[in-house]
Amino acid sequence: MSIIKADKESIAQAAQIIKLGGLVAFPTETVYGLGADGLNPIAVAKIFEAKKRPAFNPLILHIAKKEALMELAELADQRIDLLIKKFWPGPLTLVLPKKRIVPDIVTSGNPTVAIRMPNHPVALQLIEASGTPIAAPSANRFGHLSPTEAKHVKKYIGPKVDIILDGGKCSVGVESTIIQFHENELYLLRPGGLAKEEIEKEIGKIKIGKSAKNKPTAPGQLPFHYSPNTTLRFYSDKLLDKKKKIGVLFFEQNKLNFPFASVKVLSKKGDLREAAANLFSHLHDLEKENLDLILVEPIENKGLGRAIMDRLKKASSRWNKATRVQ
Ligand code: TXA
Ligand code: MG
Repeated sequence: MSIIKADKESIAQAAQIIKLGGLVAFPTETVYGLGADGLNPIAVAKIFEAKKRPAFNPLILHIAKKEALMELAELADQRIDLLIKKFWPGPLTLVLPKKRIVPDIVTSGNPTVAIRMPNHPVALQLIEASGTPIAAPSANRFGHLSPTEAKHVKKYIGPKVDIILDGGKCSVGVESTIIQFHENELYLLRPGGLAKEEIEKEIGKIKIGKSAKNKPTAPGQLPFHYSPNTTLRFYSDKLLDKKKKIGVLFFEQNKLNFPFASVKVLSKKGDLREAAANLFSHLHDLEKENLDLILVEPIENKGLGRAIMDRLKKASSRWNKATRVQ
């Protein structure tokens, strides 16, 4: 495995690897993806292996042209049309009834498939040059922090991928928002890089949570996810212990007079976009510092704050007694 700067030549080389059934890590505007030919079941199986991802968790297919959607899924509703026109390419994934061409391993046997068109030139060129939809989850080990830089990919799954295309830091920094169309309703399955409010401006109210038939396997329904290897908790006075090496993640500024071992701020301007873009890279940096504890400040659950809080809640729930995994 090697990290290679993404350019015309390395993208062509990576596309060749995809065509031959290999694994390519590549940048998108949200997080780095771990890609394989989405129509080749054996190549897709390698993704599950590399990530140690349970087979019940389906993958997103990435396309480079809107027309490619018609080959993979049924366009079930006019509202979906509107969303595509407005937000693709961009951090919006649509879960739609699948067509037969999509292998079961991609959808974990579900009759639906998740599809998105990423807004990143490297991702789009790679998909185009590969001539196939690219199945890609986030390029991390299952359950761990998401990768927003090439070095994060290397740390978690480096030896398992054939090539890592380096396209710099991801500009959005949290995964795509996932919307499912089911029985005439639209459901938000995962808050992400496109705020729910933006979507509702276009198509009216959407429901939060799982649709009746959706198995409880979307990331939002797993007990933990996105966790650093260090205990992470929401800030509370009771957790401040001077004997411990504590790192802290604030939204706008350090509000506490305490000798923290490390202090990170998501956005000095209090800008939610900047905060989302910095979230995982700050958590990766804190994880490296061998701290006893990471404390995080809760932020308001609106706009991109909803996606940030979702990631932080899941990261912290790993350390609750009921769901502890280590
Ligand atoms: O921003 C993103 O979406 C990134 C980049 C690489 O595109 N990808 C990403 O993939 O976050 P992943 O696999 O880490 O998360 C996608 C989630 C899965 O956990 C899965 O539960 C949900 O999408 N999903 C996929 N197909 C689905 C389906 N048919 N029904 C319901 N949920 C689905
Ligand atoms: Mg993921």
